[in-house]
Amino acid sequence: MSTSSDARFVTGSHDLPITPALAEFFRHGWADTNVTAEPVPASAYAAKRRAAVSARFPGERLVIPSGGLKVRSNDCDYAFRPHTAFAHLTAEVATEAVPEAVLVLEPTASGHEAVLYTHPRSPRDDGPLGAQFYRDRRHGELWVGRRRALEETEQALGLAAAPLERLEAALTSGRAPVRVVRGVDEAIDALVPPHADEHADHELHAVLAELRLVKDEYEVGQLTAAVDFTVAGFGDVAAELPFALRHPRGERWVEATFNRRARLEGNGTGYETIAAAGAHACVLHWIRNDGPVRDGELLLLDAGVEADSFYTADITRTLPANGRFTDAQRRVYDLVYAAQEAAIAAVKPGARFRDFHNAAMRVIAEGLDDWGLLPGGAEAALDPESGLYRRYTLCSSGHMLGMDVHDCAKARAETYLDGVLEPGHVLTVEPGLYLQPDDLTLPEELRGIGVRIEDDLVVTETGSLNLSASLPRQADELEAWLAG
Ligand code: GLY
Ligand code: MN
Ligand code: MN
Repeated sequence: MSTSSDARFVTGSHDLPITPALAEFFRHGWADTNVTAEPVPASAYAAKRRAAVSARFPGERLVIPSGGLKVRSNDCDYAFRPHTAFAHLTAEVATEAVPEAVLVLEPTASGHEAVLYTHPRSPRDDGPLGAQFYRDRRHGELWVGRRRALEETEQALGLAAAPLERLEAALTSGRAPVRVVRGVDEAIDALVPPHADEHADHELHAVLAELRLVKDEYEVGQLTAAVDFTVAGFGDVAAELPFALRHPRGERWVEATFNRRARLEGNGTGYETIAAAGAHACVLHWIRNDGPVRDGELLLLDAGVEADSFYTADITRTLPANGRFTDAQRRVYDLVYAAQEAAIAAVKPGARFRDFHNAAMRVIAEGLDDWGLLPGGAEAALDPESGLYRRYTLCSSGHMLGMDVHDCAKARAETYLDGVLEPGHVLTVEPGLYLQPDDLTLPEELRGIGVRIEDDLVVTETGSLNLSASLPRQADELEAWLAG
């Protein structure tokens, strides 16, 4: 936890000192501009989520920090993004998020009271923080923009708000056992003594992640919006492919075109955009994006818009840069497409999480065997003791999706990796083949071809709904779309 102090008001080495006369001049003549805030759309959902957490840990104090700013260099920070568990339980949105805020669920006789300790709006009075608004480059209103007043926070989020100065006393008072989402804010970790049960904090992490496995209707709505923005971004890229083909760093043209849509429609991208042309597509997380996009190559674009609510899409299309697949590219593409079709068919309530991956890998292994690439054949390669086909697939075929692109990562294996799909789960299905340019086991015409096809699905009562179905996926449809 860090609170504002006079030391923080020291501006950068390149700023001139504030004279006493100027400080005095700053002190007067400001209108009262506080407002009545509207409740944020998800506040009622966040209250239900907090109630679920409260019921799980009666009598215990629960501390969920948002995290602070990360320094980029000297006095320049990266843009702030609160920890996902914090955002989920407060319904805070990107445009209002405040660094260093901490949600405390304080045990009461009947459950918990939620209190958000946060920086209030910069004061402009004669108090100790009165100069913050024009002198504090991390928190001052004239440096970083207006924050809500505490009353506005209470109205917007529907919970009690208190100034951060009171947090230390609140966390060190009383005798209730305390669980903390550790690793988010070092000062909070240091302040709160360890729980008697050494696994207590991990359990809190896991419960908060598992609370996000099944998305409520608000969340599905936000994910649908994020997917729709992302589909629009892929459309922008398709329209600008001729420019990408002409620029020596065409991959950057693609990235910048998509990222413009992400910033216009939402908070930004949910992860670094992967714009990989030619053999770069064989690198799973190619984010250097500094290569050309050449006529005759494939372009793999893996990108997602993160909405202002932090929910993100995660979609991949592999496009022929000039609009037409070559025969070899088409052969690889069609196999990945068939694998994805099999995987999508395996996404339904009651199926195991691993089923859709296994369905995709069976199709891939049989295809690779048909091409004569698997010594010992498909069945032997599919044996978990072997897995030879994985030389060409590298990674698994999907993950939960939500506020984090790899959502619910702290959920226990029995509820996620070894668990069963339920209505409201949202996940990606993204098989791929990555045929390295220097892989001598491959016929020459297949070397350097990388294909991934990734869609975002919500599990329904009867099967699944592909949220990204409006973006063409099958090879002929892709070619027709690019021609249009
Ligand atoms: N873009 C990261 C992934 O697809 O998982
Ligand atoms: Mn993904
Ligand atoms: Mn992806």
